[in-house]
Amino acid sequence: MSASQNEGQRSNATLSLGGRTAELPVLSGTIGPDVVDIRKLPAEMGVFTYDPGYGETASCSSKITFIDGDKGVLLHRGYPIAQLAENASYEEVIYLLLNGELPNAGDFEKFSKTLTNHTLLHEQIRNFFNGFRRDAHPMAILCGTVGALSAFYPDASDIAIKSNRDLAAMRLIAKIPTIAAWAYKYTQGEAFIYPRNDLNYAENFLSMMFARVSEPYKINPVLARAMNRILILHADHEQNASTSTVRMAGSTGANPFACISAGIAALWGPAHGGANEAVLKMLATIGSKENIPDFIAKVKDKTSGVKLMGFGHRVYKNFDPRAKIMQQTCHEVLGELGIKDDPLLDLAIELEKIAINDDYFVQRKLYPNVDFYSGIILKAMGIPTSMFTVLFAVARTTGWVSQWKEMIEEPGQRICRPRQLYTGSPQRDFVALDKR
Ligand code: ACO
Repeated sequence: MSASQNEGQRSNATLSLGGRTAELPVLSGTIGPDVVDIRKLPAEMGVFTYDPGYGETASCSSKITFIDGDKGVLLHRGYPIAQLAENASYEEVIYLLLNGELPNAGDFEKFSKTLTNHTLLHEQIRNFFNGFRRDAHPMAILCGTVGALSAFYPDASDIAIKSNRDLAAMRLIAKIPTIAAWAYKYTQGEAFIYPRNDLNYAENFLSMMFARVSEPYKINPVLARAMNRILILHADHEQNASTSTVRMAGSTGANPFACISAGIAALWGPAHGGANEAVLKMLATIGSKENIPDFIAKVKDKTSGVKLMGFGHRVYKNFDPRAKIMQQTCHEVLGELGIKDDPLLDLAIELEKIAINDDYFVQRKLYPNVDFYSGIILKAMGIPTSMFTVLFAVARTTGWVSQWKEMIEEPGQRICRPRQLYTGSPQRDFVALDKR
């Protein structure tokens, strides 16, 4: 395939195949690589493109998040992630992702108030929790309960109405921390703590997780700031597996609560949102620094099936900009909590040191990702391992909802329907059971 550029015009790529040629438009975004628009390919050339895992395919156009994996750049609506994590509240980031711009003071106050007013759950939803075993994984509870919200808000199914979409977006983002915290309280056998309108998003989540009905709960500002950062760092990440799942489910016109539940299911796996939980399990398995060389040898041995969890990323191939902020936050939180010698942190730092200088990892461009340090922070804050992915889902709901809205509001939006390279049996005739 060759590409040509005529001044003043969009460039074309020319594909030659079996004596035929097709002119394929090359589309340019604001920043980032151009994409070849192959939509006419089947009609003109009778072929599809092959890209298992969609790693090299732009599945949509989007104005929300930009990533340059080689340079370690992550922008939300154009703003670098480090600036947002350092200066913004999570609520400002929600507004930004949903609406495209940062709010002014008046808009922010109105928006925060509306968000706060939607944090309560319908009292009937309490009954859902009783249906789960006490040892249920909170991701199972989250996935089921968020999907069940579609039964409480059937109007949301009429997604053609803008006010329905806006209301569903607010409800989802506002209610998910309440469901998440209650999933934890349920597994502990503790009374549910209701949301408080005087607290911000991060504080409210900490309060619903850790407050007890029997005593007042004091918010630690350092932990609230860390929680605010963790939420911002996980808010959106372009067309990853769970976001693409939400878009795919949403493209059928399904109820938005059901679509977000699908995203939660996709996030659950250890290759995606389950990684920070897997990092802690891995550190516990390694146990002490002396065992690191043996562990690294196992990771390099392809037959062992062992991976260095919290390392590597489908898109970031030099560094994950979120990992740097996480590492700094990790030190802040451990300092505040007076944890001077955390064996897990020591182990993580040593492991990182060894891995980033090891040829195996250098050659494959494997660096710590956002999850390498987030698990240590969350553990220090008292958040149990089983809640790590849940917290990720709480934060990512903002991205999922923003991407879902963007897709539905796009003119000419179509159902997602990838094609395949069929490698099964050619057509054959049915043979009756007694003849086989
Ligand atoms: N440990 C050891 N080897 C690894 C790791 C790892 N964590 N990650 C990739 N590799 C190796 C692969 O075995 C492969 O080696 P090969 O070329 O010799 O066959 C090479 O590096 C390239 O790996 P791919 O699997 O092609 O990389 P891909 O981009 O498909 O995978 C993924 C990315 C899934 C994140 C992978 O790096 C991984 O499993 N990491 C551990 C899990 C993890 O931390 N996930 C969190 C991702 S961040 C997030 O979801 C928020």
